[in-house]
Amino acid sequence: MKNMTNGEDVKGVILAGGLGSRLYPLTKITNKHLLPVYHKPMVYFPVELLADAGIKDLMIVCGGNHAGEFMRLLCNGKDFGLNYLTYCYQESEGGIAHALSLTREFVDGDKVVVVLGDNILEKGLHSYLTRFLAQEKGARILLKEVQNPSDYGVVGFDKNKITKIVEKPGVPPSKYAVTGIYFYDSLVFDFIESLKPSERGELEITDVNNAYLQRGLLEYDILDGWWADAGSSIENYYRTICKVREKHLRDNPAD
Ligand code: G1P
Repeated sequence: MKNMTNGEDVKGVILAGGLGSRLYPLTKITNKHLLPVYHKPMVYFPVELLADAGIKDLMIVCGGNHAGEFMRLLCNGKDFGLNYLTYCYQESEGGIAHALSLTREFVDGDKVVVVLGDNILEKGLHSYLTRFLAQEKGARILLKEVQNPSDYGVVGFDKNKITKIVEKPGVPPSKYAVTGIYFYDSLVFDFIESLKPSERGELEITDVNNAYLQRGLLEYDILDGWWADAGSSIENYYRTICKVREKHLRDNPAD
């Protein structure tokens, strides 16, 4: 087994497919993840998040009509400090877990950090990645307390232990949403293979996380700093831009 010490031992995957219908008509002529978020295209944020955590090998799963624009924008990833940036095309809207399944050969038995392309964090991933690498096996998810848990995957707790994860529940078992940052070992691809499509016809990432949970292989952290899901509604997109602007002005007072 490899001696895993830092992000260089882990692959990165960004899932940037989908139709972006919740942001329509902004997404009529481009992909959601290419829209501007204050001073940068949305997809820059997950790329920088992973690069900053020390990840060197990255795959972006894109789809739809605008996939070629990702390559025009990000090129070979050198500007972000990556060794290797590669692209994969998702032909259908099969869900997050389906998109992830396409990266199996790229991940090639390593551990992987998966970020949804519209998720933006105030702070970095270092501490969570260190704890994940210290895990002998299994998965790790990041949770955040939110006001509108029904819009997300939500965890139920018994004391401090996760007992279940429910996707967009009518009656949420807690206020803790599962953010779109996931740490997996290579078992993830076997779990995806055994999934059945949900009622909305997709392979759900929540079912993947529940597969780990049922085997006692799911760990979690509560995310420090703000978390934004920029693609879930026009309001959230707007709020994300405000948060990013505030952080940018705080970090760059001369601007
Ligand atoms: C997806 C996941 C959900 C998660 C969310 C985070 O939802 O299915 O469990 O909480 O991302 O952004 P979607 O944004 O695809 O509706």
